[in-house]
Amino acid sequence: MGIIARFRDFKAIGLIGVLGLCVASMAEASPASFTIKNDNPLIHLHGRWDSSPGTWWAGSGFKLNVQDLQSLTLNLGPHTTQPLAAVGVSVNYEPFRTINVTEGANAIPLSASSTTLSLKKRSQSVVRINVEGWQDNRINLETIGLNAGAKLLPYTPQKLAFQFIGDSLSAGQYCPDGVDQAWTFLTGEDFKAEHNINAQPGAALTDIVSYGNEHGVSYQFFRTEDTGYYYTTDHNYTTPWNFARDQPEPTHIVIHIGANDNSQGVSAANFTQTYLTFIKNIRVHYPHQPIFAFTPWGWPNSDGSIGYYYQGVYEQIVKDRIATGDHNIFLVNTTGWVTWADVFPSNQHPSPSGHIKIAGLFTQWLNNWGLKAEKNWETPALV
Ligand SMILES: *[C@@H]1O[C@H](CO)[C@@H](O)[C@H](O)[C@H]1NC(C)=O
Ligand SMILES: *[C@@H]1O[C@H](CO)[C@@H](O)[C@H](O)[C@H]1NC(C)=O
Ligand SMILES: *[C@@H]1O[C@H](CO)[C@@H](O)[C@H](O)[C@H]1NC(C)=O
Ligand SMILES: *[C@@H]1O[C@H](CO)[C@@H](O)[C@H](O)[C@H]1NC(C)=O
Repeated sequence: MGIIARFRDFKAIGLIGVLGLCVASMAEASPASFTIKNDNPLIHLHGRWDSSPGTWWAGSGFKLNVQDLQSLTLNLGPHTTQPLAAVGVSVNYEPFRTINVTEGANAIPLSASSTTLSLKKRSQSVVRINVEGWQDNRINLETIGLNAGAKLLPYTPQKLAFQFIGDSLSAGQYCPDGVDQAWTFLTGEDFKAEHNINAQPGAALTDIVSYGNEHGVSYQFFRTEDTGYYYTTDHNYTTPWNFARDQPEPTHIVIHIGANDNSQGVSAANFTQTYLTFIKNIRVHYPHQPIFAFTPWGWPNSDGSIGYYYQGVYEQIVKDRIATGDHNIFLVNTTGWVTWADVFPSNQHPSPSGHIKIAGLFTQWLNNWGLKAEKNWETPALV
């Protein structure tokens, strides 16, 4: 994990004006005819937001359901990452596309389908936006600008909601579009599920300093901020996360962690103890949810061998939990899931195609376990 880089000043790209052009009935091209404040309850936040309000952790963001949407502007405040933060944008459940946003006004490009004004019926557009990076991932939402005639409607979340917990292997580190290309995010999308992803590259589960992370995930998971807070001059502290803010409450918990504990020389016995305590601590918030504990898929090498670690440890952790009466924890054996062809040769992390493969294998695993994807989106796009 690097110290957050500072680049030269960067001006918002003036897409303003382009968006409205195809709409003959709009007298003016001004996209932001009125604004909605950041505390509007119809903005459906997900992931971890501080009180500014601003995002932390890859994947955090929000959803909007807007009637007669023609233009959308995000007005971001001074706590936004300088010079920019990459966000994934999906309109009407089309694939996520990356755009860079900055402090100030950001016109969000909308897809053609949602900007074609239907004169016969009202349209209803669903916009999903999330930060992609495990660092440089802060958007400080001040207001949202909408075209005249647009109306914010409630967003109804999916019933299925994944909570993923992990490190770089779950955060999409090294992928061009960050977490939006990670198996975690893709699995969530495959199931038409809500998904929160708390994955911190370089972090151990054990609460030790590891590769620039001041804390381990067993500590940081309970905080609003990711470990990037430590390098952040305008917010160099953490605050407790209020789990009641996770709406909907997660229905399934997925944990893939241990690579950095192993690299830092945490013993198997120590790691086991840390993991068991962590499960006990998350059970306070997730008393009845199934927990899926991944075995490591290891570090694939060019000669075809795989560097496994903590072999047998995860099986023992699951057995120990079951012995204490927790029958809702399951081992996901990922042995053989990831090969040399699936990783970036320079760092052995999954490539975008590797992540797609992993998401496919986990989806299949969950299907066999008994979990089926939701058939529909609860908040349909009507265009
Ligand atoms: C976002 O900014 C980064 C850094 O300047 C740049 O490499 C990337 O191409 C930009 N992406 C988009 C979609 O504009
Ligand atoms: C944040 O605080 C820690 C001490 O708590 C300090 O070591 C670190 O340098 C600070 N970072 C910044 C960017 O201010
Ligand atoms: C477990 O590992 C941590 C970090 O290396 C260390 O501080 C702690 O003393 C260890 N505990 C035991 C019981 O070995
Ligand atoms: C995991 O899968 C591998 C490969 O199929 C197998 O050799 C191993 O025994 C499995 N481990 C467990 C705990 O089921």
